[in-house]
Amino acid sequence: MTKILVTSALPYANGDIHIGHLVEYIQTDIYVRFRRMLGEDVIYVCASDAHGTPIEINASKKGITPQELVAEYHSRHKEDFARFEVEFDEFYTTDSPENQRHSERIYLKAKEKGHVLTRDIEQFYCESCGRFLPDRYIRGTCPKCGALDQYGDVCEVCGATYRPTEVVEAHCAICGAVPTLRTSKHFFFRLVDFRDFLIEWTSEPGRLQEEVRTFVRGWIDHGLQDWDISRDGPYFGFKIPGEEDKFFYVWLDAPIGYIAATEHHCSSRPDCDADDYWLNPASDTEVHHFIGKDIAYFHTLFWPAMLEAADYRKPTAVHVHGFLTVDGRKMSKSRGTFITARHFAAAVSPWQLRYYYATKLNNSIDDLDLNSEEFVHRINAELVNNITNLISRTVGFLNKRLDSRLGTLPQETRNLQGGVIASVRKTQELYAKLQFGAAMREILAIADLANGYVQERAPWATIKTDPETARNDLTFAANCIKIVTVLLKPVLPAYCRLVQDILGVNDLKWADAAFDMENRSIGTFEKLMDRLEAGTLESLIEATRLVGPAAQAVPTPEVPEFKEEIIVDDFARMDLRAAKVLTVESVEGAEKLLKLEVDLGREKRTVFAGIKGSYAPADLVGLTVVVIANLKPRKMRFGVSQGMILAAHDGQGTVKVCVLDDAVPAGTPIK
Ligand code: 2FM
Ligand code: ZN
Repeated sequence: MTKILVTSALPYANGDIHIGHLVEYIQTDIYVRFRRMLGEDVIYVCASDAHGTPIEINASKKGITPQELVAEYHSRHKEDFARFEVEFDEFYTTDSPENQRHSERIYLKAKEKGHVLTRDIEQFYCESCGRFLPDRYIRGTCPKCGALDQYGDVCEVCGATYRPTEVVEAHCAICGAVPTLRTSKHFFFRLVDFRDFLIEWTSEPGRLQEEVRTFVRGWIDHGLQDWDISRDGPYFGFKIPGEEDKFFYVWLDAPIGYIAATEHHCSSRPDCDADDYWLNPASDTEVHHFIGKDIAYFHTLFWPAMLEAADYRKPTAVHVHGFLTVDGRKMSKSRGTFITARHFAAAVSPWQLRYYYATKLNNSIDDLDLNSEEFVHRINAELVNNITNLISRTVGFLNKRLDSRLGTLPQETRNLQGGVIASVRKTQELYAKLQFGAAMREILAIADLANGYVQERAPWATIKTDPETARNDLTFAANCIKIVTVLLKPVLPAYCRLVQDILGVNDLKWADAAFDMENRSIGTFEKLMDRLEAGTLESLIEATRLVGPAAQAVPTPEVPEFKEEIIVDDFARMDLRAAKVLTVESVEGAEKLLKLEVDLGREKRTVFAGIKGSYAPADLVGLTVVVIANLKPRKMRFGVSQGMILAAHDGQGTVKVCVLDDAVPAGTPIK
């Protein structure tokens, strides 16, 4: 039998699992359960992504070792996955001996074949922290739009990307010191050596979704750059063999973690050999990765190339999904839509999210939206009113009036049965193609049909004169329930186990989706679920918004060092003025940006400010603020900004504008 290995992306052991992550884990788990119900040999592995600078720095801020931080999140993640019925066969860690061995082996093989070269690169170094600073650990002013306190590689206000050396007033995000440039030797993987291989690998039918293939081919055509696979110490990761103070970049060993997790799993099972999945070219194996579109480059280019370099087996397919939006917008801490798995589970049944995500997943890389109103509506209309109601009325009636016994399937339902069996086949095809939303519609149609049949046959009336006809009619409905239960089981395992008990059946498999329950007893109806109240999700979002900042409290940032001395004339060149805020609107498509119209006495100006996270527009109208009036106008993606507003910045994203007394007239110079 073909051996199937399925993976989800390895979560960083550096923060809780949230509802955005869950899209992928739920998608993968549904796929695994589906194939297993078909009787296939599937293992599902994952691991904590343990290495890298953020984990090391966060651990040191907390005064613990990176290993301790990883262990803490590893166990929190395990709890979260269990809550959402995401069941791995193995949840391992990339900080493991197996992973080190495979990482070294793959690297050494690639090096031996000439695919690794070294080059000196210049990078920011913080003398006071004693470390090189990755782009994310540089903060400064955006060179394009002038927004303060942006990352070293991308501006969250105008969306521009740039090199850290272009950042204005770059400083270390950890300690605030001004970094210097230093040269160091780095190791590079020559991706371009694998151009032909990658073209062929990505062309294989079924390997990638069409839309993914298109953009991956675009990357290949655009030119494959050498990939920097080393980092200088201090770094939490594996040492590069034969080198001093050089470590593998986290993204080198992260996907190798799939191999390590497989190996660790197989070590506890006599019938499982990790080499069959990763090394043995003759074995009958499929490897499926599920990932988000942000990490497609790693999984469709670097990863297969590394495996090819070291003579490992390449993945059969990489399945890519889009991001989660909530009520049409990117998840955001300030809006309360950045909801952790545990917070969600405390308020709403996890399986309801599994069902909702299933209705939204259609093997596309488009973003999928969790809409508060639709969520409640779908659960109530589809799961409560349609499916659960069918079970309750059918089994309830058989329990109360017909001794819980089924009769025979009515001859007249032959055609209906044929239609249902066609739907079962269709559902199977849809699951296999990851079109879960369409599969859910197919399943609902079966429940609709059974509900319609019961309604039309009205057993509550027939029973008075012909109880056996009533029993037979309900036997058709009970068989439909069993079939619906089989088809829903990959999505709602726990719910379906309850329905199995109600029907008096065990461990339903795909092959049980058939009309074969006759002349036997069934179990007793038990309440399965309540309707969701309107506003359930809105209340959760509001509660998350309120507890958010406290729950995510970060330590007080260190006060940055003072800048170099200037003379009075330097300061005098700045024309600071009091300005009245006239109107404020939020800028669509820019997460942090507000557009303000301010009165400077002599004229009105439009100013864009990256303060949306700290102010609602209405809070600012009428305030007297301080504006630099002689700053050269700056063209931004959303319009021209004719000045800047002074504000206090804590370096952690909180911004408070400097407000003057109301009595100060607009345009008054500030000296
Ligand atoms: O992007 C991420 O969250 C990574 N931790 C995913 C790693 S997946 C694999 F390659 F290890
Ligand atoms: Zn520093």
